[in-house]
Amino acid sequence: MRLRDCYNTGDFRELARRRLPSPIFHYIDGAADDEVTYRRNTEAFERCDLVPNVLSGVEKIDLSTTVLGEKLAMPFFLAPTAMQRLFHHDGERAVGAAAQKYGTLFGISSLGTVSIEEIGATISTPKMFQLYVHKDPGLNFSMLDRCKAAGFSSVALTVDTIVGGNRERDLHTGFTTPLRLNLKSLLSFARHPGWAFNYFTHERFELAQLKDHVQEGTNVAVSVAEYFDKLMDQSMDWNTAEEIARYWDGQFVLKGIMSVADAKRAVDIGATGIMVSNHGGRQLDGSRSPFDQLAEIVDAVGDQIDVICDGGIRRGTHVLKALSLGAKACSGGRAYLYALAAAGQPGVARALGMLHEELVRDMKLMGCRSISELGRHNLRFR
Ligand code: FNR
Ligand code: LAC
Repeated sequence: MRLRDCYNTGDFRELARRRLPSPIFHYIDGAADDEVTYRRNTEAFERCDLVPNVLSGVEKIDLSTTVLGEKLAMPFFLAPTAMQRLFHHDGERAVGAAAQKYGTLFGISSLGTVSIEEIGATISTPKMFQLYVHKDPGLNFSMLDRCKAAGFSSVALTVDTIVGGNRERDLHTGFTTPLRLNLKSLLSFARHPGWAFNYFTHERFELAQLKDHVQEGTNVAVSVAEYFDKLMDQSMDWNTAEEIARYWDGQFVLKGIMSVADAKRAVDIGATGIMVSNHGGRQLDGSRSPFDQLAEIVDAVGDQIDVICDGGIRRGTHVLKALSLGAKACSGGRAYLYALAAAGQPGVARALGMLHEELVRDMKLMGCRSISELGRHNLRFR
């Protein structure tokens, strides 16, 4: 199977599965507990049908949307994800270049593997920095200062990861960052020589935003759960979020909002956007899907704040359904991460290109020329 044989997220996933040592594949692919929420995030879209209109002159389609103060060429952007150089040696460099090619927003994780400064200097597309609040407050504010200096357009404070989720696949595989070298992992590398060659012949893995402050994750191998439990500030509350919003003083998003009450508080503390998200099912299993929760949140705060639907997106039609309910844009992780692992920058570019093509085709079939024409009138729930 090659890149040119990939036509959808499932194909990229399969290619990623073949390319990656299994602990890494399962870190990307896995979720919390029984993975019920993870499956539901995508299944939720199937409980809702699109009702097209025809004969509307759809020769030209405008997919652009304005979200978090930036005009994006397409209404899907790349949610921030950790450790990208583990998945492919080009990591964030590949993902950022592909985001730029398609004129969309690039999310960069606190646990990223290419520095804020390098990304600021090389990637011109709108950039969102995702903040994990560490116990060391100086570290949090210094990351924000670096993002300001590097010209990032927004900050997303992730609020659903106060402890690490129970990712049982990672317990079975023994996944750590950096990878722990033992007989089992070495055997897994030997079975994936292409990945192993690139991993060991390129610059050493590091958590680029954190390495000068925190040994764990760069020099000391820890599991994701250990990292969160040891280093994150579990006392984080609304005052912390408000203080960070004030300090950043720009487009500010809470990532991981699921209730109407919290969406309203996000408005109160001065956030300009929220990502309705359960972290791709990786945190609280049994929590509702973002798509199922979207309508009530849009009804409550959609006229005051940008509402983004994050997670479960695998098809252009999923994006159209979320936009019809009132989301300003959608975002996702695995939809581009499988492609990154499968083939680096050309992989992510192909995944985004295919989603773009799907969106154009689906808009034409819906009889809509611009996404502002989508609305609840063209949806029916089963
Ligand atoms: C994530 N996600 C994530 N979120 C975040 O705020 N900071 C992070 O560092 C990461 N890291 C991360 C790694 C991997 C491998 C995955 C799959 C996800 C969550 C991410 O931003 C997004 O919310 C989910 O990926 C959305 O679900 P889908 O699109 O993967 O179904
Ligand atoms: C994850 C963390 C790093 O989902 O956000 O793995």
